[in-house]
Amino acid sequence: MIRRMINRYNTDCLKFDAVEEVFGTKDIIPLWVADMDISAPNVIRRALRQRVKHPIYGYSIHNECFFKTIISWIKDRFEWEIEKEWITCSPGIVPAINIAVMSMTEKGDEIIIQPPVYPPFFNAVTDHDRSLITNPLKYENGRYTIDFDDLKKKISAKTKMIILCNPHNPVGRVFSKDELTELGNICIENNIIIVSDEIHADIVYEPHIHIPIASLSKEFSDITVTCMAPSKTFNIAGFATSEIIIENEEIRNKFRYITQTLHICGGNIIGDAALIAAYDKGKPWLKRTLKFLKENIDFVMDYVKENIPSIKIIDPESTFLLWLDCRELGMSQKELTDFFVKEAHLGLNDGAMFGECGEGFMRMNIGTCRRTLKKALKQLKDAVEKKGL
Ligand SMILES: Cc1ncc(COP(=O)(O)O)c(C=O)c1O
Repeated sequence: MIRRMINRYNTDCLKFDAVEEVFGTKDIIPLWVADMDISAPNVIRRALRQRVKHPIYGYSIHNECFFKTIISWIKDRFEWEIEKEWITCSPGIVPAINIAVMSMTEKGDEIIIQPPVYPPFFNAVTDHDRSLITNPLKYENGRYTIDFDDLKKKISAKTKMIILCNPHNPVGRVFSKDELTELGNICIENNIIIVSDEIHADIVYEPHIHIPIASLSKEFSDITVTCMAPSKTFNIAGFATSEIIIENEEIRNKFRYITQTLHICGGNIIGDAALIAAYDKGKPWLKRTLKFLKENIDFVMDYVKENIPSIKIIDPESTFLLWLDCRELGMSQKELTDFFVKEAHLGLNDGAMFGECGEGFMRMNIGTCRRTLKKALKQLKDAVEKKGL
């Protein structure tokens, strides 16, 4: 799919142009931020050129196609029938999670997250003076699952919300119908709102299938804020356009009160054009991309198993992110992050940023060309061997 690396330097690209600031050196291969080194589908690029041809870029509205393509994408991929009224546009999933916290909970309320998990989940709770409750995933035999006993123990009368990451970043789990049903039932019994971050919903590998928790029943839908977007799927995160689906009118109005007062629900003409083209015509591209990503995952997993056996990789069911268990290297977290940057010359995400249980782990983005991955893995192998590990 990509044979040659596209040069992303000097394009104001976070992943490449911020490496010196983040890692203290330019001399690394960046395999961190969750976007891919793959050009966006031609159908999107064509739609953008078409829109840009018109010379006026004033305020915009979301047209009928915007809603129609979202509705039919979600029905087609997840067999979930949603209505236009349930959709609110947001400049991103992280803003949406923060808005849900601000609008649906009060200071001092408890909010549960399930680490190791995407770092902004922590801030979405603590930055608004809510109380952070962690229900760490259980890690057994190389697989992560929800620890329901711990979850039940952690819930109190002050628990008002859980922020679910499904599919899960960084561990790559796609939660099953049984897991989601158990989780949903616990939330109903305890009046807990579910904010379900499903940004990775489209990047799922067979035989796994993504199930939006709200699609399982009317009762679940009534307590759920579902956050979806074409941003990861089609590699267009820079357009900051995502769709937030809330069936319950009361909580939807709370959410919209903030998006409307901040004037951020209008979206942007470019993001809307990209979203419509992606959902309307992007399916064949996505099919090819999923194959490409899965081959990259298999390549990295096989290579590491064979050549760097002291690092174990959690087999991902979703995402283009690999969660590397590096605990056998026997390093402190500081030594581990220094080792990756200074000795392997690789820029990965520090596992500790995903919570305390992420210590000893690193996250690697494999959404890049094979040649880059080969070079990166060789550097890692040589660095581990040099240390005699
Ligand atoms: C689980 C998860 N949620 C949200 C985001 C970011 O979403 P946005 O850029 O729409 O705020 C990411 C990006 O990596 C992610 O992995």
